[in-house]
Amino acid sequence: MTEQSGQGQTLDNLLTESRTFPPSDEFAQQANAKADLYEQADADREAFWAAQAEQLTWETPWNQVLDWSNAPFAKWFVGGRLNVAYNCVDRHVEAGNGDRVAIHWEGEPGDGRTITYADLLREVSKTANALASLGMRTGDRVAIYMPMLPEAIFAMLACARLGLTHSVVFGGFSAEALRSRIDDAQAKLVITADGQYRRGKPAPLKAAVDEAVAKTPSIEHVLVVRRTDTDVEWTEGRDVWWHDTVDGQSDQHTPEAFDSEHPLYILYTSGTTGKPKGILHTSGGYLTQTAYTHRNVFDLKPESDVYWCTADIGWVTGHSYIVYGPLANGATQVVYEGTPNTPHEGRHWEIVQKYGVTIYYTAPTLIRTFMKWGKEIPAKYDLSTLRVLGSVGEPINPEAWIWYRETIGAARTPVVDTWWQTETGAIMISPLPGVTPAKPGSAQRALPGISAKVVDDQGNEVAAGGGGYLVLDKPWPSMLRGIWGDEERYRDTYWSRFADQGFYFAGDGAKYDLDGDVWLLGRVDDVMNVSGHRISTTEVESALVSHPTVAEAAVVGASDATTGQGIVAFVILRGGVAEDEAKGANAIKALRDHVAKEIGPIAKPRQIMVVPELPKTRSGKIMRRLLRDVAENREIGDVTTLADSSVMELISTGLKDTG
Ligand code: WTA
Repeated sequence: MTEQSGQGQTLDNLLTESRTFPPSDEFAQQANAKADLYEQADADREAFWAAQAEQLTWETPWNQVLDWSNAPFAKWFVGGRLNVAYNCVDRHVEAGNGDRVAIHWEGEPGDGRTITYADLLREVSKTANALASLGMRTGDRVAIYMPMLPEAIFAMLACARLGLTHSVVFGGFSAEALRSRIDDAQAKLVITADGQYRRGKPAPLKAAVDEAVAKTPSIEHVLVVRRTDTDVEWTEGRDVWWHDTVDGQSDQHTPEAFDSEHPLYILYTSGTTGKPKGILHTSGGYLTQTAYTHRNVFDLKPESDVYWCTADIGWVTGHSYIVYGPLANGATQVVYEGTPNTPHEGRHWEIVQKYGVTIYYTAPTLIRTFMKWGKEIPAKYDLSTLRVLGSVGEPINPEAWIWYRETIGAARTPVVDTWWQTETGAIMISPLPGVTPAKPGSAQRALPGISAKVVDDQGNEVAAGGGGYLVLDKPWPSMLRGIWGDEERYRDTYWSRFADQGFYFAGDGAKYDLDGDVWLLGRVDDVMNVSGHRISTTEVESALVSHPTVAEAAVVGASDATTGQGIVAFVILRGGVAEDEAKGANAIKALRDHVAKEIGPIAKPRQIMVVPELPKTRSGKIMRRLLRDVAENREIGDVTTLADSSVMELISTGLKDTG
């Protein structure tokens, strides 16, 4: 664990935290999940999951709950057939809830749209008819590169309805990132918008699609929503407007049932190499677990709650906890297009007040940003409707947890710290808000039906108080079914580390406290977590070395009070590049912009240092631990395994010279 992430300070805080917050009697009594849920699941795991799956509507029932005979490739609810979109939309209308609001959509400039379940059914049906008219057939892949517009949700559900596999690419990613994802999945259609509002200003979006699809022959059409009235270039025959293609379609569409294991979506996430992994999720098990966790972890009451998850649909949290989980449960939710400080820093609280939000789910990085902006801001709004607060994306430090509960939750609401990953598809470790005495900073315990362990290097479970690696020792319904087109990488990345035991290796360090609760300690691999976004060090390194002035680069995630980790890069210049010039502010800016162009603005290094050498072991592996010491202004640790122990001195002196 020596190469552990640079979150030393957070860890110290975590390990001395001992406060607990039991749910109030009032909350506990009305909660969906009671303590007996654990017992039910322990008594018969498969029967438990079958009971959860029965909450969905199946066209054909399954004949086997789990087939793990071809591990690590799971099949859940084998033989069952269902339509995911039908489950998220039609059945609520059929049950008489067509007038219930599905989405309170709030645009960044202040415009809005109220979409009931009956409206959603019409919109999704029209979109499905449009996609079929563009020649999309069951099994085809569709890339969705969009801002937080209702159309993005219609598009995802229309794909699900037709058995198309969507691949949503975050709208902040670059043209190059989009191109490689389209190419990997061989998508036939991209759905996008002319532009997107970002911090009060329209920014072009379609331009990036044009650049990407110039190099992706698999694309047949680009379907474009008009959002910002931005001028766009147009390729006749290939490009079509949403309002021309979708609006005139029939609002009737009969959904077809698909196999429980039909591919629902691919979502790319960073791994330890430069190439993002296309995480594959399927239908029945995924929908079962997202709906189950959404109902129990957030205590959702569909008739009365107003739920808001602040994620972007470009990430897994948006897939599972904006689109599939909440809509399968018939929830009413807020979807917000913009940034939290546009036009002012109270925007989220204004929205909570406006819609009477009762359940709010966000990321620690945003909570810490709110803390920085000051508690006077939320104090100006009526937040009394809030009754459950959630956190996801990275370990939440106890200070932020306490602030969240006290300032946003009036020292009254349960806070659920939910651990999961793109790969797990749904929440895995989390308190149950009406059951668990919550501990700030700990995700605590695997949910009923889920099994997780903290193990040592050999795969033996550590004792209470001990630390090691987090593993999942039993298959779960919403688990990834593989990496798109790369079976070997799937086995290698997740199943080879503890192959003897058959454990899924999550890539996170963790420890048990003396009560046996789990505390997550950050990544143990070369994946950084910046504002809850996973970015691989290698990906940023390859972006840097693709610049003509850079010979070699090493990237580390250094602790950052707001974003969790910040990206710090060390670069060696190519011979012949004038050092003074390359160290200048303009040159450094050019490098940062280059990374933004290659990957996206979220991957821009916070800091770039030009160095004469990089610290390497004798086998040539870069010792990021030492670079983190530099990046975090710490005394430099043990250098004995360096091939050349004077390197660190060279680096430090070099940096001092240039200030
Ligand atoms: C981290 C986001 C601690 C972890 C849903 C994991 C967390 C990675 C938590 C997955 C949490 C997520 N406490 N760490 N509550 N939630 N993580 O794929 O390192 O974007 O492996 O999925 O985020 O990030 P991903």
